[in-house]
Amino acid sequence: MFNHIKPSSPDPIMSLMEAYMQDPNPQKVNLGIGLYYDHQGKIPLVQAVHIAEQRLLEQQRPHSYPPIEGSALFAGQIQTLLFGEQSAHIATVQTVGGSGALKLGADFIYHFLSRREIWVSDPTWANHWAIFEGAGLKVHTYPYFDDASGQLRFNAMIDTLSSLPEGAVVLLHPCCHNPTGTDLNPEQWRAVLDVVQQRRLLPFFDIAYQGFGDGLDEDCFALREVLKSDVDFLVSNSFSKNVALYGQRLGGLSVRCGSVETASNVKGALKTLIRRSYSCPPTHGSQIVETLLADPQLQQLWAGELATMRQRIKQMRASLSAGLEQGGTTLDYTRIRDQKGMFSYTGLTEHQVSQLRQQYSIYLVAPGRMCLPGLNQQNVDYVTAAILDVTRAA
Ligand code: LMR
Repeated sequence: MFNHIKPSSPDPIMSLMEAYMQDPNPQKVNLGIGLYYDHQGKIPLVQAVHIAEQRLLEQQRPHSYPPIEGSALFAGQIQTLLFGEQSAHIATVQTVGGSGALKLGADFIYHFLSRREIWVSDPTWANHWAIFEGAGLKVHTYPYFDDASGQLRFNAMIDTLSSLPEGAVVLLHPCCHNPTGTDLNPEQWRAVLDVVQQRRLLPFFDIAYQGFGDGLDEDCFALREVLKSDVDFLVSNSFSKNVALYGQRLGGLSVRCGSVETASNVKGALKTLIRRSYSCPPTHGSQIVETLLADPQLQQLWAGELATMRQRIKQMRASLSAGLEQGGTTLDYTRIRDQKGMFSYTGLTEHQVSQLRQQYSIYLVAPGRMCLPGLNQQNVDYVTAAILDVTRAA
């Protein structure tokens, strides 16, 4: 029955993580998957999470079924985090990570809006393609980043968005663009949102790195700006990175609607899709975040821990780019210094990325996406020397 199934091609990001885990080289460095490591090279247990988990343990709650859409308290907290306020015009449901939110959003677009296409940035996170194509949508691109110059292709982006058919679905990254680390500034966001409004496009915002750019509120500029308009939109968000709850698979999908009644109907549609897919979400992760966000002191503790992560990444950007500059690199080290969030699109070629892996056990996602938090004081010189070596050899 199954002999016709051919070997699948490995996922470009997850397979790299597996290869890294199996690499016996003690000097190996993981700059691949979007994962935050602390200054000791460890994946942190956020203290605010630890305290919230202890409280949950003490409460000895039974593990009952949650509502299909997750808890109402959690949905409201997601709205406050993203929009700075709660709104009955927004239908928010808990999802299985940010990826689950994207898939749910894609299913909603396909089954309830009868759309068959989506436009994503060129380049974008590889799994955007897989998720949207897997949901039956044809994926197109709009220009975003020029790898040769390291610059945003803003005018080309606006031109393309302006030429899309009315109602076209456009995926946008509100902050910490994955994979380029190159974001729109407020003025550019306003210009994009003007086009969205004039052309009556449907924006689907994917925010997986809230808090890793400029701050929890600052990173939501585009969301808060679009909320001021009458534009309907979707937002997928994730708690994998900013609460370091990777394995809990915790995220949300929010859909802004024209009326409270429509929001209620949209929530019903999302519940239908969830129920026939995985029935209802897991509860442990959402209970952690609910507990954390319900207590102002814990929330403050978490925001401070997130700020430390953000600052540490910036320090690593500065150290690596300064080391490359001093070593006389041919690489445009200013990208590493200036780009935002966990990633830098370094300009390293596929060949150089492969050399780094083969010769130094340094893992980056091809072509040249580096996850900065894999760097620390102990390995930054090693990585700098390796990059200088492979860029000299090129
Ligand atoms: C990444 O881009 O590395 C992260 O979003 C993790 C993933 O699932 O790919």
